[in-house]
Amino acid sequence: MDLVAVAGWEARASALTDRLIELGVLVDPGWIKAFKDVPRHVFVPEVLRGGGVISASDPEWLDLVYSDETLRTQTIAAGEGIGRHEIPTSSSSRPRVMAAMLARLGARPGHRVLEIGTGTGYNTGLLGHFLGPDHVASIDIDPGLIETARHYLAAIGQHPHLTAGDGAEGWPEHGPYDRIIATCAVTSIPPAWIDQLADGGTIVAPFDAGEAGPLLVLTKTKPGEVTGRIDPYPAHFMPLRQRADSPLGPGQTTGFTEPGIPAYGTTTLNPKDVVDVEGTDLALFLWLHAPGLRLASAPGRVFVHTDTALAQADLEPVEPGRWPVQQRGTMRLWDTVEHAYRSWLDLGRPDPSRFGVSAPRDEDQFVWLDNPDSLYSWPLPVPSPL
Ligand SMILES: C[S@@+](CC[C@H](N)C(=O)[O-])C[C@H]1O[C@@H](n2cnc3c(N)ncnc32)[C@H](O)[C@@H]1O
Repeated sequence: MDLVAVAGWEARASALTDRLIELGVLVDPGWIKAFKDVPRHVFVPEVLRGGGVISASDPEWLDLVYSDETLRTQTIAAGEGIGRHEIPTSSSSRPRVMAAMLARLGARPGHRVLEIGTGTGYNTGLLGHFLGPDHVASIDIDPGLIETARHYLAAIGQHPHLTAGDGAEGWPEHGPYDRIIATCAVTSIPPAWIDQLADGGTIVAPFDAGEAGPLLVLTKTKPGEVTGRIDPYPAHFMPLRQRADSPLGPGQTTGFTEPGIPAYGTTTLNPKDVVDVEGTDLALFLWLHAPGLRLASAPGRVFVHTDTALAQADLEPVEPGRWPVQQRGTMRLWDTVEHAYRSWLDLGRPDPSRFGVSAPRDEDQFVWLDNPDSLYSWPLPVPSPL
């Protein structure tokens, strides 16, 4: 099927663009035109959904492609036995998130941009439309994705610079870059990005901070360092992974595998207060105290876990103001959550925009509250080499 010639896509692309304008994420006329003119459907001939595949021959495909939804395009099986499950390794990101990130990038005609995470190539196509494909370089860790993206981009007449490799190393060949945009999430800023960014340049990258999933918008303020505020926009991206055959980011595992013997006790923190943390101001604060923290709830209890520690708290108190807790693994995770929750209250429930990041290439990178010299700072976990 000649996907470029599919009938009816222009009206759908236009309606999606109008929706993004309405949401306030699309303002610049150059990006508005890019979202109207670049055919998303060419980049996603197949969408993985609910265990099946929706392809170009399915009647719902075109509407799905022009909806404001993430379209999953590739997964890898992970885990063992009954714990085996599919984890996404590539997708066409949610259009509202793409538009919000491109707006924050502040790219202007003439700029050179490096994109980390080519995926389907759709975002590369938007960048190419706005800047000219020759000003765009894009890298993906998966060589197969680079080949398909190259093919789809050529089909719409674009020939940007594309390469397969670990985006954590950047791609010095076409730099220095005025802007770097990552479409996979990081826990710290790779030194290569700082080196390859022009002075005064901007990095926009999803922050792999668990349930919070905000953005980092950082500027190169001096040689060898980027700094800036955390932007609370909920982006939620898959991690920057270290290998093409694995869905996992640095330090991640497919689950908590070493239960050990639990410590039993009680807590005076009502577990309900942390259960609905997703998307709230508390989520980032908890993650800073326990990087990798995830929350889950089951009937009657709340679970918090990292890859090496697990705690469960009952929603039913044993007596007024006291709830049962079990903790196991490498740290007393509930104790950490409780401490973090009380500090968060003491500090006046700071929202994520009060936090910033200082990322020197050769020293420790850290998150700060209000200003880089504040009394409160938390180290960013630096990925260990494979
Ligand atoms: C959400 S998808 C990208 C969406 C893409 N920009 C688009 O418009 O289709 C994330 C991508 O990041 C890529 N990725 C993950 N880790 C990477 C790494 N270390 N280097 C380069 N790309 C990586 C994945 O292979 C995946 O294609």
